[in-house]
Amino acid sequence: MNRSETETIAELHRQAFGPEEGPEIARLATAFLAQPDTVSVSVQRGGTLAGNVLFTPLVFQDHPDAACYLLAPCGVLPGYQGQGIGKELMETGIAQLKSRGADAVFVLGVPGFYPRYGFAPTDKQTPYPDLLTLPESWMALELTPGALPPLSGRTIAVAPFMRPEFWDTSAYG
Ligand SMILES: CC(C)(COP(=O)(O)OP(=O)(O)OC[C@H]1O[C@@H](n2cnc3c(N)ncnc32)[C@H](O)[C@@H]1OP(=O)(O)O)[C@@H](O)C(=O)NCCC(=O)NCCS
Repeated sequence: MNRSETETIAELHRQAFGPEEGPEIARLATAFLAQPDTVSVSVQRGGTLAGNVLFTPLVFQDHPDAACYLLAPCGVLPGYQGQGIGKELMETGIAQLKSRGADAVFVLGVPGFYPRYGFAPTDKQTPYPDLLTLPESWMALELTPGALPPLSGRTIAVAPFMRPEFWDTSAYG
């Protein structure tokens, strides 16, 4: 991905997440896009990049061969929200991970949105399990049948995502 594509995606997330969270999420998106194994899925509307979702590897330390991903961030430009773009991002993203042979995808997010696409709360660990004060916000979607139940133990996200504050749900509304 070239620099201007990365900047366009980062700017999309900055706008989608608003003035408070946006700048930090935009920096995170930029860092993710510089990682070799990041999967990026975008939706265009009339030549404008309207939505984007990123998936980065999540490693189970005791199961290094499991191909798991973390979904974050998922954003749609404010003027394009509520028009089915989030749905398209989720459906296209999940299909793309499946076609790569992924075993499961995890997300820390609003419990209202992700269950529409098959995500359900999971008892697997986040990288900082002690900071998960809202267990229903940590969800998983199995992509390879039977892949999820055997997974256990410590998880590690990509380096830019290993800051504890990203995993602390005590600030959620
Ligand atoms: C959340 C977001 C990605 C959804 O994208 P969108 O294009 O607005 O969503 P869609 O129009 O495809 O809506 C899909 C469905 O999800 C619902 N939905 C949208 N945003 C939702 C939210 N925040 N919580 C719960 N449900 C939501 C819609 O009502 C719709 O339901 P329907 O199919 O029954 O009508 C987008 O609103 C966004 O970028 N928000 C700001 C950033 C953010 O909060 N990202 C998620 C962080 S966990």
